Amino acid sequence: MSNSGEAELLHTFKGIPFTTRSSPELLKSLDTFDAREDDVLLVSYPKSGTHWLAGVITKLYNTQVTITSPIEFGDISQLEELNKLSSKRIIPTHLDYNMLPPNFKSKKCKMIYISRNPKDTAVSMFHYYRDNPNLPTVDSWPAFFDLFLKGNVVCGSWFDHFLSWEEHEDENNILFLFYEDMKKDLPKVVKEISLFLNLNVSDNDIQDICKKSSFSEMKNDTEKENSDPNHTVCALTSNRKLIFRKGAVGDWKNYFTPKQNIRFQEIFNEKMKLSKM
Ligand code: A3P
Repeated sequence: MSNSGEAELLHTFKGIPFTTRSSPELLKSLDTFDAREDDVLLVSYPKSGTHWLAGVITKLYNTQVTITSPIEFGDISQLEELNKLSSKRIIPTHLDYNMLPPNFKSKKCKMIYISRNPKDTAVSMFHYYRDNPNLPTVDSWPAFFDLFLKGNVVCGSWFDHFLSWEEHEDENNILFLFYEDMKKDLPKVVKEISLFLNLNVSDNDIQDICKKSSFSEMKNDTEKENSDPNHTVCALTSNRKLIFRKGAVGDWKNYFTPKQNIRFQEIFNEKMKLSKM
């Protein structure tokens, strides 16, 4: 990563790199945030399919709900803005489990965690670093690969993030989803989400939601609409045009050298030895 830009764009809080779009004051105040029992959290490590999941959930609810900006996005006024909302709140976040405001845990709010093959996540994030002016510039794929494995990227280590949430996978208020399952059988996953959220949705509606949530439909919608700079579901950009890149499973094979793949696998095996994955 070139040093120019990094100091201005990232800062570290509790050992995790955040962009300056998340102010230190806001991050410090998260512990005091007052959750509501009917809040729903959409949780992800960046580039795991957050916008896709948010798109599906918006379409699933036909009553008035608000998909807010991420809880960690902005300055201290963000918490006040969230407090003022009178509608049901669907709150996205890239926070790991340990940094989540404790109130969400004690009130047993519903949380949906979406995960993705970390190799594809790394490649997607590499492009995001290149295209997103809120992130430092990266010199090359090999340089980014090293940073990703060290967890020296925004939101920290993929492994730590995943493991912090996986530990709570069996709790009734947490639903674990995988990007790859959504690619394989979206109607099945949408049905699962609707049951988890206690929404009564017909099979026809599910088919319709899936059609409208395809990669090409979502990308087209984004190109037609002007994104609102004040609204985002990812704390790292408000520009939806940066999101819909390729939408594929296995793109890592176009980037990883055999040597990188072996190194990744070794680290994966070591870090994930206690994981059920
Ligand atoms: P790629 O960069 O591999 O294309 P996030 O929303 O968490 O930032 O994740 C972005 C990734 O999800 C991008 O991956 C993007 O293309 C992919 N994505 C977004 N919408 C999608 C959809 N409807 N279907 C499949 N992939 C989608």
